[in-house]
Amino acid sequence: MIDIGNKNQWKELLLTKDEKILEELYASAREIQKEHYGNKIFARGLIEFTNYCKNDCYYCGIRRSNREACRYRLTKEQIMSCCDSGYELGFRTFVLQGGEDGFYTDERLVDIVKTIKTAYPECAVTLSVGEKSRESYQKYYDAGADRFLLRHETANPDHYRILHPEEMSCENRKRCLWDLKEIGYQVGAGIMVGSPGQTVDHILEDLEFMKELEPDMVGIGPFLPHHATPFANESAGTVDMTVRILAITRHLLPKVLLPATTALGTLDPVGREKGVLAGANVVMPNLSPENVRENYLLYDNKLCTGSEAAEGLKILRNTMEKIGYEISLDRGDRAGREVRTWH
Ligand code: 5AD
Repeated sequence: MIDIGNKNQWKELLLTKDEKILEELYASAREIQKEHYGNKIFARGLIEFTNYCKNDCYYCGIRRSNREACRYRLTKEQIMSCCDSGYELGFRTFVLQGGEDGFYTDERLVDIVKTIKTAYPECAVTLSVGEKSRESYQKYYDAGADRFLLRHETANPDHYRILHPEEMSCENRKRCLWDLKEIGYQVGAGIMVGSPGQTVDHILEDLEFMKELEPDMVGIGPFLPHHATPFANESAGTVDMTVRILAITRHLLPKVLLPATTALGTLDPVGREKGVLAGANVVMPNLSPENVRENYLLYDNKLCTGSEAAEGLKILRNTMEKIGYEISLDRGDRAGREVRTWH
């Protein structure tokens, strides 16, 4: 097993040109993953329920200043019908992701979560709706939400400032993550790889922050420019750096749930496979209604068909089988995690 003890070693692994060392890193990441999850890759049903957003993050295609974005929101009935078809396909985790859209008040979100948990008590509901007060997070949790995804984006306040306008802060982002964790959610943090201004030292800070937070999930995908944002002309992150960070994360947080992201699959046709072979063990195909999928564009050319679509489960199963893995539609809670039963 590769030695990954301290920050200096992480740095070496991020920078090394020695293919043999990297092969070893990926092989031991796979070993750790297998020890906790066997050859299972968990698939989650992703519902992108609104692309309205009050924030103006410089990297994101659904930022409020992007007048080109064709905005939509799904009704509760539409969301339920996504869950219904997802359930039929076998999915047992629904991920509700959206921009920070004031239309979905706490009351409305609570109602949506309760309706899903009443219809499907054995399914996990994951929310990804951005920064809220602790009280709001508590309400969603009490309504039955099991997990919450909120990438911290970068743990370094100066780098955070490069990526976000004045009204947002690294401090509040981290506060949200600690609140979510204390409330009892399975929590997901994470970063974009190769975002403008990111240095190797920033990545080390991210790894350190995640080691401290001990999230149950970590979302790591390459930054990809969107043409209608201030970062339109910035260069994209790389597959190579993304898979290195996935593998290091698997070592630092052995039981973590680690998606091979859509962004990785967008950057490279076999990106998701490369992610899995570096220790990733989650995929999140799209369950949103087909006519809105093309509007949830966080970056250019975002994939939403084939194995990125929930109906493409067969393709996904095949691609994973080819590299020795099996898609599981079970809830797939983090190994060793106690889980609430829901009545
Ligand atoms: N490239 C890659 N990832 C992006 N995200 C937002 N915009 C981009 C982009 N241009 C990621 C952010 C966010 C998640 C939902 O999508 O990390 O947390």
